[in-house]
Amino acid sequence: MPFRPIRPQGRTLSRADCERLDSEDSLAKYRALFDLPANLIYLDGNSLGAKPKATSTRVAHLLEREWGDGLVRSWNEAGWADAPRRVGDMIARFLGALEGEVIVADNTSVNLYKALMAALRYQGRRGVVLTDAGNFPTDLYMAEAVARQFGTGGVRRVPREALLDSLADDVSVLTVTQVDYKTAHMFDLADITAVARARGILVVWDLCHSAGAVPIDLSSSEVDLAVGCTYKFLNGGPGAPAFLYASHRILSHLSNPLPGWFGHERPFEFRQDYVPAHGVERFQSGTPGILGLTALETALGIWLSVDMNEIRRKSVALTELLIEIVETRFASLGIRLGSPRDPAVRGSHVALTHPQGYEISRALAERGVVIDSRPPDLMRFGITPLYTRWVDIYDAAEQLAGILESESYQHPKFRIRLGVP
Ligand SMILES: Cc1ncc(COP(=O)(O)O)c(C=O)c1O
Repeated sequence: MPFRPIRPQGRTLSRADCERLDSEDSLAKYRALFDLPANLIYLDGNSLGAKPKATSTRVAHLLEREWGDGLVRSWNEAGWADAPRRVGDMIARFLGALEGEVIVADNTSVNLYKALMAALRYQGRRGVVLTDAGNFPTDLYMAEAVARQFGTGGVRRVPREALLDSLADDVSVLTVTQVDYKTAHMFDLADITAVARARGILVVWDLCHSAGAVPIDLSSSEVDLAVGCTYKFLNGGPGAPAFLYASHRILSHLSNPLPGWFGHERPFEFRQDYVPAHGVERFQSGTPGILGLTALETALGIWLSVDMNEIRRKSVALTELLIEIVETRFASLGIRLGSPRDPAVRGSHVALTHPQGYEISRALAERGVVIDSRPPDLMRFGITPLYTRWVDIYDAAEQLAGILESESYQHPKFRIRLGVP
């Protein structure tokens, strides 16, 4: 039985309606810029973004011409040496940051370590590191490590909903992920930053599920430090380098706990003593990975013309559509909403829960719908407005309905655990 999802206004949506909405979509033109396999519904761009078509040509040029022919000369002639800062400035544009406040380097885990240690040193006092108990594991591990190494009052883990009320006098640094990787619950950057600042607490934001997903304005939110990854919504490629943002307001007082030669004021003078670079370059450590940076820079080229408000508008519309379908059709089939119902506090994925969420995600993959699952019972449906269509949500929901109604997910083959779920 084909379902009839309804829109928030109560109007019934057919597949033809979704096709029409796609044809009227101002972002629809971007889908053609990506390589997406035919007959695959890809709702996992919040884990690994799709590959821009231009990346193949650009990386081939890098390999053949810049590396193959140019060899070491390309550090100067192809702009390799400046890439971390140049690409950082491209990212700054849609983080609402200023030029010279973002550097691309390492991965989010390492950048988090650098930012947290810099924040603790800046604060000086030996306070507590406060974090969300359900934060992404790497964030928790890094918070524990810096607290141990800095000798602070340790890490205090509190439930996400209790975070604002836990900004106590003994807290020195708060580290939190703006959009939760499981539920997609979204914090207001400006609100939390302001409350924390008023109490003398420095916030290190993790923007992994925000960058390219929701509008961000780091400058007007007066954010001090933030990190994030580029392989999800930004389409940088598997393991693409991450970014670190440090506000001009405090940058000159921040130090990198991993002071490598690329963060030196004059790396190619090979001096014996470390002098940090004047700008955000000080947060580099070793040689930048040019293959990854080049792929990322190519992908960001697409983003330069994108209006983040349009991204958000479509993201909210598609998450609303999926939730409407779940509420009207799936409630009796054991599926529950694991994300906030209010779009104002929801990022760009929808979490659904079911005791056999893993098996259902495997069954969906067999039907050509790629999502992912997180233990114990969560399924994540990622909306990446540059290439997710209205019909993708309609068709994915129809496949989900078929799997739930037939209970085909009960087949033992779907219980086999993959290395990466
Ligand atoms: C919220 C969040 N923080 C940190 C990370 C880790 O990033 P990386 O693997 O680049 O260190 C991830 C990875 O998915 C994440 O979702």
